[in-house]
Amino acid sequence: MKLALVRDSEIYNRKLLGLTLRDRIKLPLERAGFTVRFFKEDTSVEHAESYLIINEPVLILERDLELNGRKLLVSDGVTFGYLFGDDFHAFFDGDLQMTIEKYLERNSVGVQQIWSVKLSDENLKLAEKLLLSSLVKVKRTGLKPAYYDGIIARTLNRIISLRISKYLADRTVTPNQITVFSFLISVIGSALFLLNSYFATLIAGIIIQLHSIIDGCDGEIARLKFLESKYGAWLDGVLDRYADFIIIFCVTLSVSQTNGLYWVLGFLAAFASFIIPYTGDKYVAVYKQTYTSGSFRIPITRDIRLFLIFLGAIFNTLAISLALIAVLGNIEGLRRIIALRSVEL
Ligand code: CDP
Ligand code: CA
Repeated sequence: MKLALVRDSEIYNRKLLGLTLRDRIKLPLERAGFTVRFFKEDTSVEHAESYLIINEPVLILERDLELNGRKLLVSDGVTFGYLFGDDFHAFFDGDLQMTIEKYLERNSVGVQQIWSVKLSDENLKLAEKLLLSSLVKVKRTGLKPAYYDGIIARTLNRIISLRISKYLADRTVTPNQITVFSFLISVIGSALFLLNSYFATLIAGIIIQLHSIIDGCDGEIARLKFLESKYGAWLDGVLDRYADFIIIFCVTLSVSQTNGLYWVLGFLAAFASFIIPYTGDKYVAVYKQTYTSGSFRIPITRDIRLFLIFLGAIFNTLAISLALIAVLGNIEGLRRIIALRSVEL
């Protein structure tokens, strides 16, 4: 057993974005393989293969904590906890603080920086802000997703989706419900393209962009409330492929009324919308690591494809959007085939 001893504090009873701060320290430590015990004054210490002692009230923001060896746990230059080996038990004399000091005198310990924030009544707003920012799929947050957010996701979608997730955090809505809801929105948006009026097309474009934004909320809520599931991750990806096809199909049906040749564009755009996620997901399945597509990549990820449809709807240039998706997506697919040849891991 790996034992985590967390010094209890009043502040752990406070709620932050749908969970108590007690759960917010317990759940990541349990994910890291620890049995978590809160203690008030001093504590007895049972035998364990390693001991994690957290002395200061903190909110851990890192998701996939790896805690091994003997370490001082440090955040913003302040030590908030310790990780010790099984020999800690032999040092224990009833006084935890003294035992820690004795252990540190006799053993050399490393330092591990952990992205976390010290909890106090004054700090809760900052903690909330940092917690929300830790949900975004970018390298900085230490998340290891299948792939990182594209440029539209980072600069536009996440800013809005995080606000929606903040609102949803206190409610009972599940990630899978959001996944299905987001898909239904994409179907409604797609259907509006078929009405063939500029106004309906405009609303359709806005709804598609809204769908792209809400597509971020299922994952955010899953990460925020420790509700991630394999089925949810799978469904999220699969319904995205259905939505991609339905959107492109309806846009193609709409623009092809002026020129039948647009079916060719639509067909190629639908293929591009499939081959980009496929090459990414297949990479993750085979290489077992996050797909990062190199420095000369063409940015044509889903957030960008849907944004092109949104712009096409606003400016009434949907055929150009289809053409861009078709050409850029297929070139990027070929580029990946060539670029990956020389990367052997
Ligand atoms: O933009 P994208 O949909 O790729 O990102 P996201 O929704 O922020 O995150 C996707 C990840 O969230 C999945 O890989 C799952 O880990 C998680 N997720 C989940 O557990 N259950 C869901 N219903 C949806 C997403
Ligand atoms: Ca999603």
